[in-house]
Amino acid sequence: MQTTDKFLRIRGEFPVTNATFVSPGGATRKIIYLDHGASTHPPSSILDIYRDVLEHYYANIHRGNHYLSQKASQLFDEVTETVLNFIGADHDKNEVIFTMNTTTAIDIASHIMRDEEGIVLVSEMEHHSNDLPHRRRGEVVKILVDNDGRLDYNDLEEKLKRNKVKLVAITGASNVTGYLPDIHAIARLAHQHGAKILVDAAQLLAHKKVDVKSSEADDHIDFFAAAGHKAYAPFGAAFLVAPRQSCDATTPYIPGGGTVQFVTNAKVIWAEGQDRHSGGTPNIPGVIALGKALNWLDEIGMDWVREHELELLRSTDQRLRSIEGVKMLGNITPDERLGVCSFNIDGYHDEQASLVLNNDFGIATRNGCFCAHPYMIRLLDINDPERIFDELVANSEALKPGAVRATIGIFNNQADMDLLVEAVTELAAHPEWAERASFTSDAQCNDYA
Ligand SMILES: Cc1ncc(COP(=O)(O)O)c(C=O)c1O
Repeated sequence: MQTTDKFLRIRGEFPVTNATFVSPGGATRKIIYLDHGASTHPPSSILDIYRDVLEHYYANIHRGNHYLSQKASQLFDEVTETVLNFIGADHDKNEVIFTMNTTTAIDIASHIMRDEEGIVLVSEMEHHSNDLPHRRRGEVVKILVDNDGRLDYNDLEEKLKRNKVKLVAITGASNVTGYLPDIHAIARLAHQHGAKILVDAAQLLAHKKVDVKSSEADDHIDFFAAAGHKAYAPFGAAFLVAPRQSCDATTPYIPGGGTVQFVTNAKVIWAEGQDRHSGGTPNIPGVIALGKALNWLDEIGMDWVREHELELLRSTDQRLRSIEGVKMLGNITPDERLGVCSFNIDGYHDEQASLVLNNDFGIATRNGCFCAHPYMIRLLDINDPERIFDELVANSEALKPGAVRATIGIFNNQADMDLLVEAVTELAAHPEWAERASFTSDAQCNDYA
C-alpha cells in the first residue's frame, strides 16, 4: 500500500515529509512527523485553495450583493452540504454550526442542552474539552473505563438506569490510546433511556469512516463535533452538527451580529437555523478549506485511509510492546483503535523521552497528559491523584506524570514507523540519555534547514 502510486501521490502533497531542522547538538535531522493527533498538516492542494480564496474571493459572507461576497457565500455555504454528506447526517433535520475548534463546538452543544432536565454522562477517557464544558453547566457523572482502557458498558447502562440522563458525551476515539468505543451501541442505549448522544470526533473524523445515520435510526448520533486542524485543513475552522429542533429551542450561544431577525431597543427576534448560534464573522477561508479537505479525504476513500494507518499501527504496536523497559498505555488491540501509541520508557520522564526523540532522531511526538488527566490517572495506575493535585496547588512547576504519544497520519510510511521503533529501542537501552534533555534547557531547535 505504501509504495503504490496513490500513496506516493498523497505523500508528495506534504512538503514536511522532506523537511529538516537543526537540532540543539548542531546535527541536521529529517522531520518524522508523528503528531497527527495534535494537528495534521494541510496537503498542498488544500493550501492552494485556501490561498486562492484569500487572494480572489476575500469578502464577508451573507451580507453583500457584490460579486466577491456572493462568491464567498456560495463557497462557504457549500461546506454545510459537504459536512453533512461526509458524516452521513440528515440534511433536513440538522444544522452545521462552524466554530474555530472542537472545544467551542462541544461547548455550543453543551449550551444547547443546558435547559433540558437531567445530568450529563461523560466517560473517564474524555479529553477535557468534552468534560469541563458540561461541568460548568450542571451535574456530570463519569462512566468508568476498565484497566485496559476500554469503556465499561455495564457501568454506562447502570448509570443510564439510575439517573435521569439528558446527554451522553463520549469520544469517538481516544486521543490517548486511540480506543474506538462503539458509538452506535452507546447511542442506542442512550436513546432507550431518553438521552441524546454527543460524539467528540476530534480524533475520529480524518481516520475512519463515520456514519452518524438518519435520525430515524435508534442508534443515530445526535451531536457531532470535529475540527479541520486534525483533518488536513488549516487551523481555525471546526464544526458542530446538531439537531435543528434543539438548536432553535435555545437562545444563541453568542448573541450578536448575524444571530437575529430583527432588533428594537427593547426586543429581539432571534434567527433560526445555522445563524442562531453563529455570532460574528466566521473563519470564511478556513471553513471553505475544511470543506475541500473533507472532499479530498472522500476522494482518497476513508476505508483506504483506515487500512493504510491500521497496517502501520499493526506493524508497530507489538514491536513497541516487546521492547524491554517500554510500557504502553492501555491494552487495546490495533483493530479496536486508531493509530495512537502512548508509552513510557524506564529511566525517562516523558518530557525527556520526547525531547531525545526529537533532538537525536528527528521524531515529532507529543508528551504530557494530553488534556485527559482522569484517563491518564487510570492508565498510569496513579493511586493518589490528590497528592499530585496538592503539589501542583503548592507549586505550579511541579512535575506531572505523563507519557509520550506517537500518532499516525495519512502520509506516514513504514520507514517512519521503523525509525520510531529503532529510536525507542535505543532510548530504552540507554537510560543515561535522559540527561541529554534538561527540563530547563533553553537550547532550542532551529527553524527548518
Ligand atoms: C479527543 C479530543 N477532543 C477534543 C480536542 C480539542 O480539540 P480542539 O483543539 O480542536 O479544540 C482534542 C484535541 O486534541 C481531542 O484530541
